[in-house]
Amino acid sequence: MQHIAVFTSGGDSPGMNACIRAVVRTALHEKLRVSGIYRGYQGMIEDDFVEMNAHSVSNIIQLGGTILKSARSQDFRTPQGRAKAYANLKTRHIDGIVAIGGDGTFTGANIFMQEYPDIAIVGCPGTIDNDLYGTDYTIGYDTAINTAMTAIDNIKDTANAHGRLFFVEVMGRDAGFIALMSGLATGAEDILIPEFHTDMDALVQRLEAGFRNKKNSSIVVVAEGDDAGGAFKVAEEVKKRLNSHIEIKVTVLGHVQRGGRPTCMDRVRASRMGMSAVYALLEGKRGVMIGETNRQISYTPFEQAVKHHEQLNPNFLKMVTVLA
Ligand code: F6P
Repeated sequence: MQHIAVFTSGGDSPGMNACIRAVVRTALHEKLRVSGIYRGYQGMIEDDFVEMNAHSVSNIIQLGGTILKSARSQDFRTPQGRAKAYANLKTRHIDGIVAIGGDGTFTGANIFMQEYPDIAIVGCPGTIDNDLYGTDYTIGYDTAINTAMTAIDNIKDTANAHGRLFFVEVMGRDAGFIALMSGLATGAEDILIPEFHTDMDALVQRLEAGFRNKKNSSIVVVAEGDDAGGAFKVAEEVKKRLNSHIEIKVTVLGHVQRGGRPTCMDRVRASRMGMSAVYALLEGKRGVMIGETNRQISYTPFEQAVKHHEQLNPNFLKMVTVLA
């Protein structure tokens, strides 16, 4: 292996830059050529490559977003798109790739490797959702939960000042990790997540019990993918059923959770995973996602990483009921 490429794909996450930096610097350390591909699979198809050197990744470890940009490519879903991507890689004599992304990224990589087995691909888990099997933490998750926590702390101040009930929506289409952690860290009255069915009556009873206990304000954290709908829908339903005149407000945190300076843990984790990814390629590993499991570097086949989501520990939900 003499020339590898690195790209970021899907939803960006804080720490992706630290991971790119580690891939580039490790590759150069091992005397490999390294190219960056802009806009993930789309750039691979459109021949948007850049040769990278040590300076290409100077002063980026602390930055959110991704210097290589990101995209969700529809063209890569077609055999024609993938054939173009393959041709562009071959023209540059690239035979190894580090893909930084989530579910969609590794699903695409898996299909590509089956069609073109002469290109070795390994992945680093870059997503704020923490919804990949085979790693305790994904790159960006720690930053996102801290961003959400700080935002909810701010909302708590004003909720308390006015004696209001807030529904705060956080990201997580299929996974409730961000909601669960940020809700626990801010002492939310309830946390609604996609992994568990939301019982609207039970939620209302819980809130009413709180008010009877002289709670002045309350926070309910809602993951965007909860089965009861987003925060607006839940707030509307609660308003219809609640036996209280408390004023209800809704805040959707949205993409504020995707940006910002990565935390120390995300920078270090991303650097470690990026470096391990290059060594994995050199050791002949392929089709695996690099993870960190019980503090050790682990390797999980793409197929498993995307199919079996990391399980949420139900004890955390018990914490909400006992501690709120
Ligand atoms: O997968 C990461 C994520 O931030 C999800 O939590 C969210 O549902 C989705 O991406 C939003 O994607 P987009 O930025 O394309 O709207």
